[in-house]
Amino acid sequence: MSTPVNLFDYESLARERLSEMAYGYIASGAADEITLRRNRECFDLIRLKPRVLVDVSQVDTRLELLGQTLDFPILLAPCAYHKLFHPEGEVATAHGAEIAGAVFVVGTFSTVAIEEIAQSTAARLWFQLYVNPDRGFTQEMVERAEAAGCQALCITVDTPILGTRDREKRSGFHLPAGMERANLKQLGAETSRAQHHGQGAYSLLDAALTWDKVDSIRSFTKLPVILKGILAPEDARLAVEHGISGILVSNHGGRNLDTVPAAIEALPDVVEAVQGRCPVLLDGGIRRGTDIVKALALGAKAILIGRPYLWGLAADGAEGIARVIQILRAELEAAMRLCGAPRLNQINRNLLWPDR
Ligand code: FNR
Ligand code: LAC
Repeated sequence: MSTPVNLFDYESLARERLSEMAYGYIASGAADEITLRRNRECFDLIRLKPRVLVDVSQVDTRLELLGQTLDFPILLAPCAYHKLFHPEGEVATAHGAEIAGAVFVVGTFSTVAIEEIAQSTAARLWFQLYVNPDRGFTQEMVERAEAAGCQALCITVDTPILGTRDREKRSGFHLPAGMERANLKQLGAETSRAQHHGQGAYSLLDAALTWDKVDSIRSFTKLPVILKGILAPEDARLAVEHGISGILVSNHGGRNLDTVPAAIEALPDVVEAVQGRCPVLLDGGIRRGTDIVKALALGAKAILIGRPYLWGLAADGAEGIARVIQILRAELEAAMRLCGAPRLNQINRNLLWPDR
């Protein structure tokens, strides 16, 4: 292929380079993949309403988020097992994030330990927590992430168990020899290498996670806590009442509970429920700069991408990730200019064509 010009070009490259099992792990969703498709379809259906004759010679995408200054509202979502996609795994991802100047949310299920990733990079890191049934281990994990320099804690709350993953089962998804959940090493190989859909999987996720445990995690960390995987406005309201610093509206990229709404459909009611009391982020289906404008217009403060940076990682390591971010960033700037909204705080519902 000639030089990739958009994120979908990286998807094609990744498909060529990866095994069917690894590519399928990225691409697939839960069950009939209705939500997976809907995440994209809903973005395509929203139409923009640009304004003209606005001075767009200067464009500014900077924002303040949880007391941190970011150059642009695009973050790398936590995704498991990067060594499946590149031999250097999360070290390559962190390098790509560093080149592009993006925040990388490192996953609990990384194939390189958080300490090693942090030592390898100057990128700003956040940490995604899968709460483990072993409470002592969970506390230690949070303390390790904090000690490694992670600047926010993103607790994934939509995964008490894994979704019904038909495609993963068909491809016999497994961690190849030499790969493990490096952060979980001390829990023993049975856990660090446990198969997703096997017996050992029950030692990976706390199916009894409730609000009181989230409160207890908040009590032992100084980091701002974000809840990842909120869809219901009722839960968003509870999150605010529990003193959460941020909400990430997400359906896990359509990988957990099939037939829930697209993330972008769930966003407006969550924003309404939160009433500006904490920032609301969104992931799921973002592939174009115009998608980011739409998410921001509906009240998101920033967005995260999952699959697109894994495509970049598979295609060209750190450079591939940096290019994916740069392409998306350039598309966002172009969309802002063409919409007549050269600053993020000018992006609001007036930029969306009304449904009649
Ligand atoms: C994920 N996601 C995810 N989320 C999480 O909280 N912990 C994890 O370990 C993973 N692992 C993971 C692996 C892979 C291969 C994918 C594609 C996704 C979900 C991820 O953080 C994010 O919510 C979605 O990927 C966003 O949707 P898009 O951008 O992929 O459409
Ligand atoms: C996934 C899990 C690990 O989505 O979050 O595959």
